[in-house]
Amino acid sequence: MRLVLLGPPGAGKGTQAKELAQQWQIVHISTGDLFRYHLAHDTPLGQSAKEYMQSGRLVPDNITEAMLKDRIERPDVLESYGFVLDGFPRTVPQGRALKALLEERQERLDRVILIQVPTEVLLERLVGRRTCSLCRANYHVRYHPPKVEGICDRCGGALLQREDDQLDTVNVRLKVYHQETEPLVAFYEEAGILARVDGNQEPAVVTEATIRAAEGGPHD
Ligand code: AP5
Ligand code: MG
Repeated sequence: MRLVLLGPPGAGKGTQAKELAQQWQIVHISTGDLFRYHLAHDTPLGQSAKEYMQSGRLVPDNITEAMLKDRIERPDVLESYGFVLDGFPRTVPQGRALKALLEERQERLDRVILIQVPTEVLLERLVGRRTCSLCRANYHVRYHPPKVEGICDRCGGALLQREDDQLDTVNVRLKVYHQETEPLVAFYEEAGILARVDGNQEPAVVTEATIRAAEGGPHD
C-alpha cells in the first residue's frame, strides 16, 4: 500500500499514519518528523530548515524533495509492503516530484486521503498539544492530559509544546496550507485517487474510515 495523508496542520495525519503503519506493516514517513530530527541534531539540513519551520512556512521544495528522495530509497522502504506519507507532498511541484520518483521504479500511489477537520477544531488541537521530548507521544492539555502534569505517562519524559504550535505560528501554518497545499486536492482528484475522510471524530473511528477509503483500491 502506497498512501499519502493530506490535510491541514492538526488534522491528525501523524496520529493516523502511526496507526496505519502498524496495522499494515508499512513505513511511516513524516517530513515534519525528519526535519525535527535534523533540527534537534543541528545538522546542516536542520540549519537550513530552521527559520522556515519556526515561522510556520514551508521549507523550499528542493531541500524537502531531496530529503524525501533519500528517505524513500532506503532499504526498509524498498523491502516493505509500502509506505504512508505524512506531510509530503505539500505543494504541487512536490506532488509532481513524487510521481516522477515512483515512476522511476514502476510504482504509483494507491490512494491519497484528505483528512478534513473544521478550522476551530484544528486551532484547539494544536495550541493544546504537548509532545514527549523522548518518545514523541502526543497529549492534549484538555482532551488527553498526562497523569502528572508535564510528564509523559509512557516514558517519564518531559512534555513540551512544539515551537510552531504557538497561536501566531499556527495561523501562518493554516494560511500556508490554504495557499500552497490545498491545490493538491484538485491535482489528486484529477488523477482519480483522492478520497475524503471526516477527521472530526474519535481517532479510532477516523482510522476505520481511512482504512475503508484506502482499501477502495487503485483507480485507473
Ligand atoms: P508537520 O510536522 O508535518 O506539521 P503539520 O502538517 O503542520 O501537522 P501537525 O503535525 O501539526 O498535525 P497532524 O496532522 O500530524 O496532526 P496530529 O496527528 O499531530 O510540519 C511541520 C513543519 O515542517 C512545516 O510547517 C514546514 O515548515 C516543515 N515541513 C514539513 N513537511 C514539509 C514539506 N513537505 N514541505 C515543506 N516544508 C515541510 O494531531 C494534532 C493534535 O490533535 C494532537 O494533539 C493529537 O493528539 C490530536 N488529535 C489527532 N487526531 C484527533 C482526533 N481524531 N480527535 C481529537 N484529537 C486528535
Ligand atoms: Mg504531524
